[in-house]
Amino acid sequence: MKFTGITGNFTEATADAIAVAVFKGEKPTDATLKELDKMTGGIISSLIKAEEFKGDANETALIRFVPKGTVKASRLLLVGVGTKADYQAHAICKLAGTATRFLRKRSIKSFALIPRSEASASEVAQQSVQGFITSQFELDKYKTKDKEDKQVTGLIICIPDAKPADLKAGIARGQSIGESINFTRDLANEPPNVLTPTEMAKRAQAMAKEVGLKCEVLDEARMTKMGMGSLMSVSHGSSQPAKMIVLRYTPVKSTAKKGELLALVGKGITFDTGGISIKPAEGMDAMKYDMSGGGTVLGTMRAIALLKPTIPVIGIVAAVENMPDGNASRPSDVVTAMNGKTIEILNTDAEGRLVLADAVAYAEKQGATRIVDMATLTGAVIISLGSHNTGIMGNDQALVDEIIACGKDTGEGYWQLPLSAEYSKDIRSDIADIKNIGPRGKAGTIMGAVFIQEFVDKAKWAHLDIAGTAWADSVRPHQAKGPTGVAIRTLLNLVERSQ
Ligand code: BES
Ligand code: ZN
Ligand code: ZN
Repeated sequence: MKFTGITGNFTEATADAIAVAVFKGEKPTDATLKELDKMTGGIISSLIKAEEFKGDANETALIRFVPKGTVKASRLLLVGVGTKADYQAHAICKLAGTATRFLRKRSIKSFALIPRSEASASEVAQQSVQGFITSQFELDKYKTKDKEDKQVTGLIICIPDAKPADLKAGIARGQSIGESINFTRDLANEPPNVLTPTEMAKRAQAMAKEVGLKCEVLDEARMTKMGMGSLMSVSHGSSQPAKMIVLRYTPVKSTAKKGELLALVGKGITFDTGGISIKPAEGMDAMKYDMSGGGTVLGTMRAIALLKPTIPVIGIVAAVENMPDGNASRPSDVVTAMNGKTIEILNTDAEGRLVLADAVAYAEKQGATRIVDMATLTGAVIISLGSHNTGIMGNDQALVDEIIACGKDTGEGYWQLPLSAEYSKDIRSDIADIKNIGPRGKAGTIMGAVFIQEFVDKAKWAHLDIAGTAWADSVRPHQAKGPTGVAIRTLLNLVERSQ
């Protein structure tokens, strides 16, 4: 893939097509649109006049024209971006993605993008490249025919008067982030017979080597020795051994306060059958994505290693398979977690919280002062928030607010649910300290969070329930259906804001 920036006029670009952002209700009066209108013999004006193109977000119209002068392209794609207020920096990512997917279908190999954004040149370049890369991810890895073999390989970003150094920096950032998002999506797309906990650990190690992160993998013997009885109980029913993946990023020069450490912790259930509390057959196949929180941690750590922020970050993934067999946990078993708390397992399908219990306790033992965990934890969050917002809860309002704000910047929605002592009472067990489920049909997402909270000691902690947002059920103009790589951009923003 080739990315270039142009700081002068778009007519300098050598590409098969040009794609331009058009605002809602806009007429071609500004210099760029005027020139494009002239170039196409007034077709932009007539499309707008006939209301065949209105400029709504993601609307597209393709115009063919006979190139003249220095222009090589013979197609112009108008892409609607809505109102100026709608068109924030993160919308450029969608613009680039929509244009890429549209032009790819028409076998175009390269195009010049005119984003017409007021954001900084580096931001515009970053978002353009990121959208270009993430839009071309497809689910067809295992197809032997009918693969999406068309690829747009060249992107020329036109930002008049930009400094070339800013463009270059933005392009590099966009590439690091876009490829890391796709890295995460590829993991979630893997079938569970391929992506076992062992394979997930191998991929983490290879990635760590590639980008320069420290990677340590704890095996079952180590975890048992450390007292991770909660995590290990989930693994007992599987013939695949569990792995705890630990990635460490240490900046060359840290600007963090002494002793401050951010931990990203992910649920990495490579397949969730439910265990003995087995799930119904219908829809069980979707549970290969139950490692998405862990995948998010790996992709975010990959991008961190490439972007080199100035704070240390530790990434932890509890990679475990939840299966039913003769060694599996029974509903009513009692296990002891690493922090000494006893847990009555009343439903073996509430396994995510069981593995996260030991993973967050381990994070704090490693010195984490802030912990953000990501998990496809509850079906209940899909019922309450659908697929447009990630559920967020935590023990520190400032941290929760910061993450929500980071999401606003990057175009990722979060909605907070309350945690309070009353909810914590709902998971008190008759025979152990706590039980792994709350009252039937009540506040399922919050129950998951208050459970994890029991394993956080002094750290500031936030929990992101990504069950509704980690997988897109249908194709979008800028993105294939399937794994979304949600939360990576938010977390990167959190890391960079903390510098
Ligand atoms: N991985 C599931 C959560 C899930 C369910 C994600 C459906 C996406 C779609 C999780 O391990 C689970 O099974 N949770 C149970 C908890 C319940 C037993 C308290 C759930 O949500 O039903
Ligand atoms: Zn489950
Ligand atoms: Zn699960």
